[in-house]
Parts: sequence; structure tokens; C-alpha cells
Amino acid sequence: MKKEINFPDGFYWGASTASYQVEGGIDNCDWAKAAQEGRVPVAGKLADHYNLYEKDFDIAKELGHNAHRFSVEWARIEPEEGVFDEEELEHYREVLRALRARNLEPFITLWHFTLPLWFSESGGFERQDAPEIFARYCSKVVEAFGDLAFHYSTINEPIVYANNGWLRGQWPPFKRWTLFSFVKLANSGQGEKSASSKSLKSLLTFLHVRSQLAKAHVAAYEAIKSKSTKNDVSIVRDVIVFEGNRNPLTKIFAWVMNWFWTHRFNKKLGGKLDSYGLNYYFYKKFGNKKVYEKTDMQWDSIPEGIYDAIKILERYNKPIYVAEAGLADQADKLRAGYIAAQVKAVAKALDEGIDVRGHMYWSLMDNYEWALGTGKRFGLVEIDYDTLLRKIRPSAYEYKKIILNNKINIDV
Ligand code: BGC
Repeated sequence: MKKEINFPDGFYWGASTASYQVEGGIDNCDWAKAAQEGRVPVAGKLADHYNLYEKDFDIAKELGHNAHRFSVEWARIEPEEGVFDEEELEHYREVLRALRARNLEPFITLWHFTLPLWFSESGGFERQDAPEIFARYCSKVVEAFGDLAFHYSTINEPIVYANNGWLRGQWPPFKRWTLFSFVKLANSGQGEKSASSKSLKSLLTFLHVRSQLAKAHVAAYEAIKSKSTKNDVSIVRDVIVFEGNRNPLTKIFAWVMNWFWTHRFNKKLGGKLDSYGLNYYFYKKFGNKKVYEKTDMQWDSIPEGIYDAIKILERYNKPIYVAEAGLADQADKLRAGYIAAQVKAVAKALDEGIDVRGHMYWSLMDNYEWALGTGKRFGLVEIDYDTLLRKIRPSAYEYKKIILNNKINIDV
């Protein structure tokens, strides 16, 4: 049976981006340095969104969006420790005015993975005083933006960040931990011992960074709220849905993984947030033999799993904004169906009374997919990196239809 679900009036529809992934021309952050050293792809000019943002917001408007999530670049705003660049703050105020002029509600992420060089080179979030340093930066930005914005996310995906930087060693600062290091440490000679203890140290630092990130969020929350209680402050969580099958052992394992990945960190926030941003990409069902369609990232395409991700956050009793959910699909074959299924799953959660207030597709335009460079195309809008021409993909118009209807039929 079908049921028509209306989205509430004022529901936020839009798409997301992040500064380092689209702006171009950022050369004083840890990722730019890593690129110079040949450890990650060079970003360069990218979509040149730093200069062409008005064009991009015109497109978002044309696509029916009424909200837009983006991040401001810490390295531009605080290029030296404690020194704030007023011109860059004015640039972002212009960006906010451009959004307001088009009735696009701004959702600002204060930090989306890239660190100013002075901060990363002095230890980044390993530094004991990192929470205060981060809160000082957030406070400065929020003060500078005044009444131009109210929705702030402090940190994007804390666990993905710490995981890729200190366990998997794929992102700056490229520290790595391997499970076997425990075994090796016990049974090895001098040379191997130092590699193993390095790996072990990385695990301990991961745990330290994770708790520093939670403290940084809390310190930033207090700082932002002290500017104005009207500010809605969230953290953007990287929820992975872990699920067991009929085997009770898989159920226990899934419970442990959900606790480890999502709840443990959330508990450390002590309720110091007004809402949650939700990024959804992964659904892992242990022992599941089903073969799913693959996105260009070779990730299983399970858009409906966002319902379970929302359920994971439901227990915190805070409004939820879908801050990112999307797929790499250069041929634009899967995207329209993916978005429709994803929106239906959000509608199902709403129908159950869960307070979901917005849906932002990742991403508005093609961008720099971190260690994978520009080959993976997530955009509603295709970017030609040679000419900087923007071309709206057909799926973006399908998303527009959903937005304009502000309702969708779900199976019940
Ligand atoms: C990040 C984005 C990234 C996207 C796709 C999220 O983890 O916030 O920066 O591009 O996933 O991988």
C-alpha cells in the first residue's frame, strides 16, 4: 500500500559542499602541503567556487533548493596562529549575502577536515590546547557573521577524520595502526619493535585525538552559544549502520560497532548540541550475501539505509538534518533513483514522528574527493575542470521535482 507523506513547511532542501573540495586556490593547509609532497593529489583550481559561488548559487536556486550547506576554510581565516584575516571573513560574508539574496538558508560547517599549516605543524588536534584554539576560531567566525547565519556545525565527521589520519594512515598526518602490531611487539627483534611501537602509539594517539575532538566541539558550542542563543549548533556525525543477521554473534558484533563508531563519541558531547547533522554513506550487514549495485566508489548502493542511520540518532532526542548523503555516479545512471529512495526513507522516519528538518544531497557539484582526487563525480552539477563550465545533470531535475512537490509516496 502507498502512503503520501508531506514534508513539513519550512523543511530545508538543498545540497552540500566543503571549502577545500570546491573553492580552489588554498595553499596554506595540511592537505596542500601533503599534495606538494606527493602524498595526495593536487587540488589546484578545482571548480573555482571561491570566485564563482554566485553562479553556483544561481544553479541551486534554479534547482528549487531553499538551503545550502558549505564550509569555511580555517586556513584562509586564521592563516597564522591568533591572526585573523578580515578580508577573508568579508569574503565569506559576501558568500552569505549571496545565499540570503537567493533565499537559500546557510548551514555553515566551521571545520571540514583541512587544518591551517601552523596548527597541523604544531600538532593539530594532538595538541593539549586544541579545544581552546578551535573554540577561539569558531567564536571569531560566528561573531563576524552576526545575523547572516544561525545554523552552525562545529566539526564534520570526527571519527572518519581520526580514523583516516591515525588508524588507516591515508590522510594527514598519515599515522597508521595495524592490528598485528600487538603480536609483533611481543615477538620481534629491535628493528621491528620500533615499527610496532610506532603503530601502537598511533592507536593511542587516535584515542587521544578522538577525545580532543569531542572537547573541541563542546568548547566551540559554548563559544558559539555565548554569541547568540539563537544559533543552532550541531556536529555532523558520520553514522555507519552496522546490523547483524539471525546469528546472535553478528548481532553482538553490530551492537559493539555501533557503540564504538557512533554512540561512544556522542556520549562524550554531554548533550552540548542543539541538533545533529547526519552524513550517511554506509550500511554494513554482517553475513549478508546480497549483491548490491555499486557506485563509482565501489560502495554498495543502499540509499534506503538512511532510515536506520536516522534511527541510530533518534535516541538523542535532537532535531536531525541530513547534512550529506549521495553517491559518485559519473554516468548519472543511479543518482535519480538513489535520491528518490533516500528521500522516501527520510519520509518514513518523519512519518514515525522523528524530527528530521532538512535534506542536503552530497554534493551540489563535482569536487575533490580527498585522497582520490577529482575522478569521483558526486555532483548534481558536472564540472568541466578545463573550462570551468557547469552542466546540470538530469538527476538534479528529478530531485527538483521532489523538492517542489514537498511530498512523496512511500510503501507501507
Ligand atoms: C565527507 C565528504 C566526502 C564524502 C564522500 C564525507 O565523508 O564529509 O567530504 O567527499 O563523504 O566521500
